[in-house]
Amino acid sequence: MNATIKFRIDGTQVVTKAGLTIMKAADNAGIYIPRLCDEKGLEPQGSCRICIVKIGGQIVASCTQPAEDGLEVENDTPEIRNYRRDLVKMLYHEGNHLCPICEASGRCELQAVSYYLGIFQPTKYPYLQPDRPVDASHRDILLNTNRCIRCGRCIRASKTLDGKNLFGYIGRGIHKQVGVNGENLANTDAKVGDAAMALETCPVGCIIQKRQGFFAPIGKRRFDLKPLGTNSVKQQKGGSEQ
Ligand code: FES
Repeated sequence: MNATIKFRIDGTQVVTKAGLTIMKAADNAGIYIPRLCDEKGLEPQGSCRICIVKIGGQIVASCTQPAEDGLEVENDTPEIRNYRRDLVKMLYHEGNHLCPICEASGRCELQAVSYYLGIFQPTKYPYLQPDRPVDASHRDILLNTNRCIRCGRCIRASKTLDGKNLFGYIGRGIHKQVGVNGENLANTDAKVGDAAMALETCPVGCIIQKRQGFFAPIGKRRFDLKPLGTNSVKQQKGGSEQ
């Protein structure tokens, strides 16, 4: 039986079949909730917390929280936006993100979410400037973990879509990052056609297909053409920080 439930996001009624997450129901209703670790076709991981919403005073991740009848969900509020901004800012400070020279600029979800949230300049936290080597060993693929945000999308894509288990987390705490199951990428069975290497799998510029850099000119890049949140019935109001 396909039960129908009704709940509200920022006062807008959402009618959906039961069993969906809040994020999925919001997507179906045309309401944008920012995200980084979630990707269509992959099991939710619930780790980046950019998709947080507030329900009854509790902060939850909308990509893993089931939608329920009668919920009142706060999504695009000044409080939630500020939490999201802090989370996004910390990602810049944990890694080495040099947007102006990054091949993923203009199609990078971290950059696009930042713009959506009104983050346009360096912020208050100290830059950790970790020393991470670039793995350019593979003929067709470059792995630059300086840009990794530990979303785990490549790990899940390799495991569930490619059946390879090519990637995994190594290290702990702020030293945690993505590693490969070999001495380097060239010593694995990575192929440029793997789902894990697809342009939309890595949300940043960590996994780069060689000889494909800067393939779209400024003005025609993915998020130049369609910024995140475009077509949402609840458009972001005001991009400035609060
Ligand atoms: Fe929900 Fe990352 S998208 S926690």
